[in-house]
Amino acid sequence: MKHRRVLRAAVTVAVTGALAAGMTMALTTSANAGTTLRASAAEKGRYFGAAVATGKLSTGAYTTILNREFNSVVAENEMKWDATEPQQGRFSYTGGDRLVSHAQANGMSVRGHALLWYQQEPGWAQNMSGSALRSAMINHVTQVATHFRGKIYAWDVVNEAFADGNSGGRRDSNLQRTGNDWIEAAFRAARVADPGAKLCYNDYNTDGINAKSTGIYNMVRDFKSRGVPIDCVGFQSHLGTSLAGDYQANLQRFADLGVDVQITELDVMTGGNQANIYGAVTRACMNVSRCTGITTWGVRDCDSWRGSDNALLFDCNGNKKAAYTSVLNALNAGPAIPTDPPTDPPTDPPTDPPTDPPTDPPTVGCAASVSLNSWNGGFVATVKVTAGSAGTSGWNVGFTLPSGASVTNTWSATASGSTGAVRFANVNYNGRLGAGQVTEFGFQGTGSASGVTPTCTAS
Ligand code: G3I
Repeated sequence: MKHRRVLRAAVTVAVTGALAAGMTMALTTSANAGTTLRASAAEKGRYFGAAVATGKLSTGAYTTILNREFNSVVAENEMKWDATEPQQGRFSYTGGDRLVSHAQANGMSVRGHALLWYQQEPGWAQNMSGSALRSAMINHVTQVATHFRGKIYAWDVVNEAFADGNSGGRRDSNLQRTGNDWIEAAFRAARVADPGAKLCYNDYNTDGINAKSTGIYNMVRDFKSRGVPIDCVGFQSHLGTSLAGDYQANLQRFADLGVDVQITELDVMTGGNQANIYGAVTRACMNVSRCTGITTWGVRDCDSWRGSDNALLFDCNGNKKAAYTSVLNALNAGPAIPTDPPTDPPTDPPTDPPTDPPTDPPTVGCAASVSLNSWNGGFVATVKVTAGSAGTSGWNVGFTLPSGASVTNTWSATASGSTGAVRFANVNYNGRLGAGQVTEFGFQGTGSASGVTPTCTAS
């Protein structure tokens, strides 16, 4: 049974590409085997994708790389609720349709992102609650999945519904307050609307075995045991300067529940370890036979929501970075998705987390610095926390935001407060730092955060 599912996954990828691109895809693949991300991934029965801002499809330099290197796309913003149903019952598919057309013309499969997410809700939905919101959200799932029926390889049906921190429970939101069964209701509606799409749950800070990933694991196990239609779990993998040692083991435990797994929004903090981490993530996926593909959250560094992190595989001029080579090598070295019954489990030992020793004399406590990526009306802040001479068992970073600024999204930390004096505490996997060790977290907000300075307290 497990074997048949694995085989179907491989065939689905191959057929999607072949249907969309016909002979061109087959010829391109064999001519470039091993020399582009898409060809190398396809040889192993997998896809390699990128998040796309459709406005950039008319930029030649961007589209040249996209078409050469990637055989899967996901809309960075255009298929979200605020984009597809800006007014209740009035649907807009311009950006999504454009991306699907581009994909079909270039032999790419499409991930759908995201039917329901507590962020990027249109204003009208933000103001709703209870049974009115429940029926509006199910209608949204039904309408959007029906519109794109037959064109989507996998949908992120629900995005980011679990809380950060140690609770392992659900995140509070107006969606959650409609009742704990909202996620399964969404999956059932999506299955009816597009029976051919794989239905995924997608989240971040799940890059290892931790409280949050275990909460999701328990939900998936429950869904599988009760026949709730879930096919895959997406691991966003917005990563800092180290990778959890149990990254692959975490993917594998989900796969063992009988779902596919995918790396859905990969980007990695720049620095000495970037190429190593990209390679380790790729190897982990290759070593898990139900890991069907990897998506990076953008194409070039300057396309990334992470701004000065330079978090992607191509620099702003479109040149391949060391991280690109690391990924390509890992794709080429990895095993294909098996079409025969699996034999022995992979024997590669997990990669050790990078352990650069500090060279500067360490400081006591901790230090924090921030880099901002701002636009008119919003910003993304990336915060670096450096442990002092005693190391940390936990840390807490405070900011005083200017009036009008408000935190809307946090990753790799737990926020208290959203305006004025706000604080960010470590999550369970990044609180313990050795002397001089560095970790990162980030947050996104509305308004302007220019001029803010962090203060760091260690425990
Ligand atoms: O470009 C417009 C600008 O013209 C306008 O003035 C301004 C006013 O708000 O908005 C700008 O758009 C911003 C857009 O990014 C383009 O940069 C939106 O405000 C901003 O909300 C949007 O952020 C997106 C974010 O999701 C929304 O929360 C990022 O592009 C997108 O990369 C990010 O993607 C998410 C995934 O969907 C889920 N996982 C985390 C990931 C990163 O946050």
